[in-house]
Amino acid sequence: MEKKELMYEGKAKKVYATDDPAYCIVSYKDDATAFNGEKKGTIVGKGVVNNRMSNFMFKLLEKNGVPTDFVEELNDRDTVLKKVEIVPLEVIIRNKAAGSFSKRFGVAEGTPLKQPTLEFCLKDDALGDPMINNSQIFGIGAATEEEIDTISKYAFKVNEVMIDFFKQCNVELIDFKIEFGRLPDGTIILADEISPDTCRFWDMDTHEKLDKDRFRRDMGGVEEAYAEMMKRIGLGE
Ligand code: TMP
Ligand code: ASP
Repeated sequence: MEKKELMYEGKAKKVYATDDPAYCIVSYKDDATAFNGEKKGTIVGKGVVNNRMSNFMFKLLEKNGVPTDFVEELNDRDTVLKKVEIVPLEVIIRNKAAGSFSKRFGVAEGTPLKQPTLEFCLKDDALGDPMINNSQIFGIGAATEEEIDTISKYAFKVNEVMIDFFKQCNVELIDFKIEFGRLPDGTIILADEISPDTCRFWDMDTHEKLDKDRFRRDMGGVEEAYAEMMKRIGLGE
């Protein structure tokens, strides 16, 4: 399958049409943003890491009963996907407090949560992706009750599969953000990406951050952290 016209350019990816309207091709860039695009930069090699890691995770999740939009990895940066209509929600699961959760609820970063938490944010850059509850989601029609049931069930399953997998890599999964899409028949499937851009990964022993927080917080060693995660999951040099 080949790239045709550019359909959409986001902050970290470009999406191209193909000859077949049921499929598109995503191309991962090295561009990085944070704080709703206020902070901009480049993380050299990030596009390759995110493409390959995300495809690896989506294949693992498929094997574990979570349907995804993954079709075929074409090269280091490009992947064929099933075309979906994105559900306009960021779905966030947390195992330990960090980031906006720590700030909002006054819980110190690294505090274990008594159970994994699920939260939704409305995907809307102009509004700064505000947090939204189920009743508000149904009220504005962003998703139906049935869709949120499916999404919630899949999100907790993704968490279970990822916790177990990353444990074997001596990495603790602190939290992550995922997105879902609707196929033309309405079926809900996992979409977007799973990468160090969208997860918090901490070394199990040292708690060293191995994810995009190094960029968000100007910690240095950003490229090295992405490369280290590739090594840990068995895809690195
Ligand atoms: P938060 O603590 O800033 O709300 O982030 C929670 C998780 O979501 C964290 O793993 C980073 C990820 N995330 C994204 O993937 N995209 C975003 O725009 C934001 C704000 C967070
Ligand atoms: N979505 C954020 C931004 O737009 C990126 C992040 O913090 O992960 O800039």
